[in-house]
Amino acid sequence: MKALITSGGRGTRLQPITHTQNKHLIPIANKAILHYAIDAVVEAGIRDIAIVVNADDDEVERAIGYGEAWDARIRYIPQEAPLGLAHVVKIAQDFIQDDPFLFYLGDNMVVGGVKRFVERFENGGGNCHLTLAKVKDPSRFGVPELRGKHIVSIEEKPVHPKSDYAVAGIYIYDSSIFEAVNAIRPSARGELEISDAHQYLLDNGYQVTYSEITGWWKDTGKPSDLLEANRLVLENLAPYQEGSADAQSLLAGKVTLEKGAQVINSHIRGPVIIGKNTVIKNSYIGPYTAIYHDSLIEKSEIEFSIVMERCRITDVGIRIESSILGSGVEVVRAQDKPRTHRFILGAQSHLEIV
Ligand code: DAU
Repeated sequence: MKALITSGGRGTRLQPITHTQNKHLIPIANKAILHYAIDAVVEAGIRDIAIVVNADDDEVERAIGYGEAWDARIRYIPQEAPLGLAHVVKIAQDFIQDDPFLFYLGDNMVVGGVKRFVERFENGGGNCHLTLAKVKDPSRFGVPELRGKHIVSIEEKPVHPKSDYAVAGIYIYDSSIFEAVNAIRPSARGELEISDAHQYLLDNGYQVTYSEITGWWKDTGKPSDLLEANRLVLENLAPYQEGSADAQSLLAGKVTLEKGAQVINSHIRGPVIIGKNTVIKNSYIGPYTAIYHDSLIEKSEIEFSIVMERCRITDVGIRIESSILGSGVEVVRAQDKPRTHRFILGAQSHLEIV
């Protein structure tokens, strides 16, 4: 079996972070979202992997490499424009050939991996095996209509969903999917929809089966999804300490200090991860916070947040919470008079003050 993973698209709902960074490289508990997808694929025993990337950007290729770290082979397939998930499948046909394959949306995270779904497909999962998860807001997703144990139809982002399930971004196919993606036409929003390809399979007598994801699954499309994914991964992370904390510091709960991290006269209440060479000084870091590499937090308090690399937070009088700070962001106390708020914010920045 082969695997095809997506990392294209524009990530518009995660702007401004995605103005300068591909959303699949955003760190969740200090590891890129895409890393988790590759881990899951490899853990399912698949080592022949292609990642679809935006043709105008080699950021993913540079960050992920060619698979040595996973003992796998990773190649890259450029997509000229985000023309839809069925388009992604279409342009991967040369790579897939006649093999069955796992199609994994690189912005999806699932606890417990995908091996069980691959096994289910291999043990008689038909031509196409889908994964379904119960959600509160099905209109954001592909939604199946179920009759008994069968899927009878699938609609993409329906206004009136026919069930409270989402089709999650983990699909397993045989080569009949190529007939489907080559037959369908672009939707009203101009994309070749994967849900239309699934509907084609249903309409043309192919066998479409499914597994229900009963544990945790997230499509990390919105800022609140990132914080929630970060919370869950941190909660399940086995802590390790390769950095240092001085005698004046208090570390409680699951606290991971990556190599070169320094905690000085601070209180850290896990689950928390502090990245390589980051310094925490005279500060409080509260639960469900991930601070990435080479940052400095001084005389400040922060919890339930994601802070990316090379950030500087100093002497901030009020606790920072539910926040996502992109690379190189600075939040500092004004030193000069007059004492005013001074902002240099890029397009689509979001700031809440008290
Ligand atoms: O997450 C599950 C949902 O994913 C499904 O329920 C929907 O049926 C499916 O259409 C998809 O919906 P989204 O609106 O979440 O798809 P999104 O545009 O966010 O793209 C999903 C992934 O594929 C993400 O990794 C970006 C990438 N992508 C997307 C498109 C449209 C590409 O690489 N190329 C593309 O052309």
